[in-house]
Amino acid sequence: MAEARAQQRGGYAEDASAGNPADGGLRFEVDGEIATITLDRPEKRNAMTFATWSALARIGENLPEQVRVVVVKGEGPSFSAGIDLRMFTPEGVPGQGSFSSAAAADAATFEQRLQQAQAGYLWLRRPEIVSIAAVRGHAIGAGFQLALACDLRIVADDVAFCMKEAALGLVPDLTGTKPLVELVGLARAKDLCLTARMVHADEAVRIGLAENVVAGSDLDQAVHDKIAELLAVNRDAAAATKRLLQGAQGRSLEEQCAAEGAEQAARLKALFG
Ligand code: ACO
Repeated sequence: MAEARAQQRGGYAEDASAGNPADGGLRFEVDGEIATITLDRPEKRNAMTFATWSALARIGENLPEQVRVVVVKGEGPSFSAGIDLRMFTPEGVPGQGSFSSAAAADAATFEQRLQQAQAGYLWLRRPEIVSIAAVRGHAIGAGFQLALACDLRIVADDVAFCMKEAALGLVPDLTGTKPLVELVGLARAKDLCLTARMVHADEAVRIGLAENVVAGSDLDQAVHDKIAELLAVNRDAAAATKRLLQGAQGRSLEEQCAAEGAEQAARLKALFG
């Protein structure tokens, strides 16, 4: 049954359109203004498939309007071991193809499939929400990129980030290269990606990959505390500020000053107009 649904859900081999959280190995819960996405295949270290990315994209499309904070976390000892390694086998992931089928796909099909996968990551940057990756253990490849797609990363002291793609002959293509460069700078991003080395907790905080590091037993509380801080500020002001911050690198100082003015004018109208 799940297999039959997977046949319609896609990957490189078939047309990808939908995905419910359970089929993608996810749990999704909403509690008022807080949504929690849990990567929920701990026995496979939360390895991800196209069904995972379709399910993530579907969650983003249908996120309830009241949600202000989205937490992304992993069940078990790892955040995520990255892409399901069955993709490298000739058989691939049942119903979702393999890298062999990707290699055989025409350019337009490949691009469409990749955009569908990237959509699962991109919505986490929306100004209306703040996304938090709560990371314990390994966050490898596609898993590292999912943490990078979030606005904030709160990590346990056993965290191990690794951009493994180059070691496997691939490039990171799930939206991770831009935030990585923005967070750690170009030279460090090259070091991490071109060596595929592990980054542990102390270094992660030192180079800007994580905001907080806490003992593993304190991770949930640290996320809870951060959510309380985030929810204490004005929602619309937070969205406007996130728009400003995210646009800052692409603008000149003059353009950024003008953008600040435009956002503030809208705020003043909303508050006092
Ligand atoms: N895809 C599919 N299955 C996986 C993956 C994966 N990426 N990672 C782990 N598993 C499975 C293992 O095969 C094993 O399954 P089994 O119990 O049926 O044999 C189970 O998860 C547990 O794995 P262990 O290796 O025993 O777990 P451990 O905690 O010792 O190590 C670690 C975790 C470091 C994440 C290790 O599993 C690993 O290196 N996995 C592969 C990481 C990888 O190369 N990912 C691809 C990155 S590139 C990209 O994402 C595009």
